[in-house]
This record gives sequence, structure tokens and C-alpha cells, in this order.
Amino acid sequence: MGGIVARVHQWQGKEMATAWDVGGGHQLPTRAEQQSVLLALLEASEIGDGAVLDLGVGSGLVAEVVLEALPRAELIGIDFSPPMLELARERLRRFGTRVLLRAGDLSEPNAIDLPLRRYRAAFSVQTIHHLSDHEKAAAFAWVAGIVEPGGLVVIIDRVRVEEPLFKDWLLVWRRIDPTTAGTFADHLEDLAQAGDHPALLEDQLAWMKVAGLNACCLHLYGNRALLVGRKAR
Ligand SMILES: C[S@@+](CC[C@H](N)C(=O)[O-])C[C@H]1O[C@@H](n2cnc3c(N)ncnc32)[C@H](O)[C@@H]1O
Repeated sequence: MGGIVARVHQWQGKEMATAWDVGGGHQLPTRAEQQSVLLALLEASEIGDGAVLDLGVGSGLVAEVVLEALPRAELIGIDFSPPMLELARERLRRFGTRVLLRAGDLSEPNAIDLPLRRYRAAFSVQTIHHLSDHEKAAAFAWVAGIVEPGGLVVIIDRVRVEEPLFKDWLLVWRRIDPTTAGTFADHLEDLAQAGDHPALLEDQLAWMKVAGLNACCLHLYGNRALLVGRKAR
């Protein structure tokens, strides 16, 4: 199963959404550290009572800690999965009018009905790899157009590992997840099953730069990257 069919199939089901909410987010050994870097970047970014955009808000796991860390900010969360949005609605209810959740498909960002706000920052965690490369570049261009001058864009996501370096990657990754095994063919099969399309790190940075962001990878372990973009003032 490929492309759009795989990703719609994957996330639109209640079972998948609940499974992610209960455990999916916690299985990745780099997640806590990169989330903590995201929070530090947001806290230092003078968000005030401005808005922060969460692309692929899921069940609101990251949105919740962001709303706690930025007590005056408003968070707008986008996702195309109704059961994920329902879980996010429950989790984030206590933040009242500081949260706005919108159904939207990031593969067609211009069709997303985004409220008019002062977007001081945007972030995306473990979501962008669900888009094709063309869609990733378009999503970066869209988000760069939305954030205010000086605004922050943080992308936390997987990057593509190529075959000649697969064994080297495996050796590095096993330092934090000793159970990881398999061949490059298994790796490709897993990606296909999940409908994942990670792009090369250098391509993702290039698309961010073409979109008008100053961009850099500021945290990387194995194939898990935290990319930071800043729109010129
Ligand atoms: C792995 S989950 C991550 C959720 C959340 N960011 C977190 O880290 O807990 C990926 C999320 O991206 C959403 N997603 C995937 N492709 C999408 C698309 N094209 N448009 C909008 N949301 C999408 C899925 O529905 C799912 O909620």
C-alpha cells in the first residue's frame, strides 16, 4: 500500500490513534530530549500572547507541554485524523480558548482554513515524514509564509538513511536502542508498511532555505533530527 492511501488508512482509525496516544509517542529514545530542546527554543522566542502552530497535533501530547510552558500563548493544532483530534480535544480541554484544533491535510496546506493570528512560531513533531518530498517542500513554503518576521519554525522528524550507510546507522542507533535489528531491505519494508517517506537531511534544510528561512539542524541523533528555521525580520 503506498502514498496517500497508506497514510489515510493508517491514521484515520480510532485504534491507531489510541495506540499512538497510549504508547507510540514514548517508544522513541530521542523524543524526550528533542521535545525539551523545542520547549527551550519556544520559551526563548518571545511568544507572549501570540500564536503557535502545531502541524500534526495528533492527540495533543506535545501541544500540552507547549501550552504549559507558554502560559499566555494560543496554540492552533492541525491534523487530518478525526480520532486524533478527538483525543487532543479531550487532553487540551483544560486550556479553554487558548487552543484551537482544525481538521486539515498538510499535503494540501493552502486548503487549510487557518485562523488569522500573529503566528510567532510553528512546530511539527514526527509528522512531516508522512508527506511526499514535493509535499514537504510545499508545506515548508506554506509555513514560512505564515510565521511573522523573526518567527521560529521547528521540525522534529526522521531523516532518510541510505543503503551505503545503513550498517553504520544501525551501529549508532543500537547505542540507544540495543534491540534494533534488521537489514536495509527490512528497513525499507517497515517504512513502506507505515507509509513513511523520510527525506534526506540536506534536502529538508534546502527546502526550508528556499522557503525563505534561515535553517540549520541543531540536534541530531542517528536519523532523528531537530531542524530550526528562523524567518528574517
Ligand atoms: C506520529 S503522529 C505525531 C503526533 C504528534 N505530533 C506527537 O508527536 O505526538 C503523526 C500525526 O500526523 C498526522 N498526519 C499525518 N499526515 C498528515 C497530513 N497529511 N495532514 C495532517 N496530519 C497528518 C497523523 O494523523 C498523526 O496525528
